[in-house]
Amino acid sequence: MDQNQLKKAAAEYAVRFVEDGMNLGLGTGSTVTYMVAALAKRAQDENMELTCVTTSSRTKRQAEGLGLRVVELNEVDRLDLTIDGADEIDANYQGIKGGGAAHTMEKIVATASDQVIWIVDESKMVETLGKFPLPVEVFDYGLTQITERLAEQGLNPVLRLDENKEPVRTHFKNLVLDLNVGQIADPHALADQLDHEVGLVEHGLFLDMVNKVIVGTPDGPKLIDH
Ligand code: A5P
Repeated sequence: MDQNQLKKAAAEYAVRFVEDGMNLGLGTGSTVTYMVAALAKRAQDENMELTCVTTSSRTKRQAEGLGLRVVELNEVDRLDLTIDGADEIDANYQGIKGGGAAHTMEKIVATASDQVIWIVDESKMVETLGKFPLPVEVFDYGLTQITERLAEQGLNPVLRLDENKEPVRTHFKNLVLDLNVGQIADPHALADQLDHEVGLVEHGLFLDMVNKVIVGTPDGPKLIDH
């Protein structure tokens, strides 16, 4: 089975946790694309009333195109459940997100949710975080200085460029620095360090945020409820 089949299987499994009437957060990425398709089908088949908040214009376009009701985050009080992908998940279910530059919206939405489910293929499960570069969103203003400060801390920041060698822009028109930090032995300590960095909008460490992980494996989706 290729990676996309594993992502699809995990994504389709996840929609069973959606209940009629829920306020839902929809993440971003290729795995989420499969989930949104399955969600829209289930909502239509079962005539479910769902209110969705999206974490990127990509997901918004897809969800609306498939007939799901999408509102702004500010229009809802709380979200019942958010389903999102992840770039890496460690043995303690801490994660790195932001491979799609959407982690700021994703973190705000996850934090507003009572329950969070991550859907991944098995290649995303690691013992220790850090092989996947850690994304941080930064302003243009002070880019030189923040890059230097992060480099001085040994965090090896690299400005993310697109295929045309242009800087990648987030939804908020900010930049992304990918930190090549090696193994992250203490994710909380690193998150704390980054949380205190002036000019850093948000980093991609998602700690103590997930309730269920659904892992696509060749033997079928595996549910980790913790
Ligand atoms: C978006 O910024 C990311 O956090 C994605 O959720 C993550 O990159 C997972 O993407 P895939 O489902 O495409 O692997």
